[in-house]
Amino acid sequence: MRDDAPLLAVLRKYAATPAPRYTSYPPATRFSDAVDATMVRQWLAATDPGRPVSLYAHVPFCRQQCWYCGCNQKLAARYEPVAAYVTTLLEEIDLVSGVLPAGLSFAHLHFGGGTPTVLRPEDLALVMEVLLDRFRPLPDAEIAIEIDPRTLADEMVRRLPRMGFNRVSIGVQEFDPAVQAAINRIQPRAMIADLTAALRAEGIAAINFDLMYGLPHQSSASLVKTVKACADMRPERIALFGYAHVPWFDKSQRLMPEEAMPGPDGRAAQALAARRALEAEGYVAIGIDHFALPHDPLAVAAAEGRLHRNFQGYTTDEATTLIGLGASSITRTPQGYAQNTAETNAWTRAVEAGQLPVERGLLFGADDVARGHLIEQLLCTGRVRAAGITGALDAVQPLEADGLVTVEDGDLVLSEAGMMLARVVATRFDAYQAGITGRQAMAL
Ligand SMILES: C[S@@+](CC[C@H](N)C(=O)[O-])C[C@H]1O[C@@H](n2cnc3c(N)ncnc32)[C@H](O)[C@@H]1O
Ligand code: SF4
Repeated sequence: MRDDAPLLAVLRKYAATPAPRYTSYPPATRFSDAVDATMVRQWLAATDPGRPVSLYAHVPFCRQQCWYCGCNQKLAARYEPVAAYVTTLLEEIDLVSGVLPAGLSFAHLHFGGGTPTVLRPEDLALVMEVLLDRFRPLPDAEIAIEIDPRTLADEMVRRLPRMGFNRVSIGVQEFDPAVQAAINRIQPRAMIADLTAALRAEGIAAINFDLMYGLPHQSSASLVKTVKACADMRPERIALFGYAHVPWFDKSQRLMPEEAMPGPDGRAAQALAARRALEAEGYVAIGIDHFALPHDPLAVAAAEGRLHRNFQGYTTDEATTLIGLGASSITRTPQGYAQNTAETNAWTRAVEAGQLPVERGLLFGADDVARGHLIEQLLCTGRVRAAGITGALDAVQPLEADGLVTVEDGDLVLSEAGMMLARVVATRFDAYQAGITGRQAMAL
């Protein structure tokens, strides 16, 4: 039986350290209006036609507001704004694919939100039809969609595989009724079990669950119970997110009782308890917050050192060009990042005027590319070549003393604590770290 007391002590020490999620480097907080539509048009036109791209489509609507939510979304009480959004999304696909070289292939297509399944099945099918007409899926392409289990119509369950989807991601979070009441998201365990079984019966072979810790009234015991219930359903992947409490930014988070939220010590204990429970159920820990069954491509990629990290988190996606479609979505090219305007009216006006709806972004400097690569490697493999990085050993010295990092044959190697806290280690290599303040999510 392993003694986790020393590990827990280190996790507690660093749990409240502010750290970006590093789903991009430099982080999106550094984006500015130095990147505009004219520049992005040139980037897209210069895309290598011989290399697959990755596609992301954002749908910023939900039927209900979960109070913890930090995603770019809004409530849609009626369908009209959603229908109007679909029309503009189709126009944007036309616009963007007209700028890109013709006939590009893709290995990954992800619909995120918000809740993309608020679209009527016929509208989602139309968007998919147009995307699959403009872009060519590679034979084993991953085509994924995020699902809110409370609002998924039976018809959608039946039609998703026929539209081409082969992976779904279900927001589960926590089964404890007191937690569900406190976060305004009621969805009993049976609802998730039934949906998972129905999706599998329709042929969806790859299912992801999202879980969270750090929620009001949540305890290590309630989380472990949730983890075990989820593991019984055998989703191929489980993401375990630490709740990012940023109420100055996401106003709905103020509706939750702050005094009932676990502090850094409680969060550290929950993250570790869930990790151990998942491992005991046969899941492999991947990076800072993902778990997968050993046969899942994410676990295989991690074992083979082929894991990557992008705006969706950990991925097997190797594309260097990621095309973001929809309001607030982010495009990444070898030249830099470009983010669409998040305000749907402004996004619609730009697209209707035939302009790429770019609001801001970042043009990579050589230093950004080098540091971005290093941070991605650190968060994915837990090992980077220190020899080539000036001042690397000095930068991590206090972390080495706490057992987060060791130096082996000129490499920086993260321990288990170091991997769980890899975002903290990454801040030591972040050229913009002066901008990392307390008004940021915690490391755990
Ligand atoms: C876009 S949402 C999920 C899709 C779908 N709308 C749903 O809720 O089922 C993606 C995931 O982000 C996570 N998430 C949302 N807000 C968060 C926050 N403030 N901190 C950490 N994770 C968060 C949740 O686990 C959520 O399932
Ligand atoms: S968690 Fe999902 S359903 Fe809930 S508000 Fe956020 S995006 Fe919408």
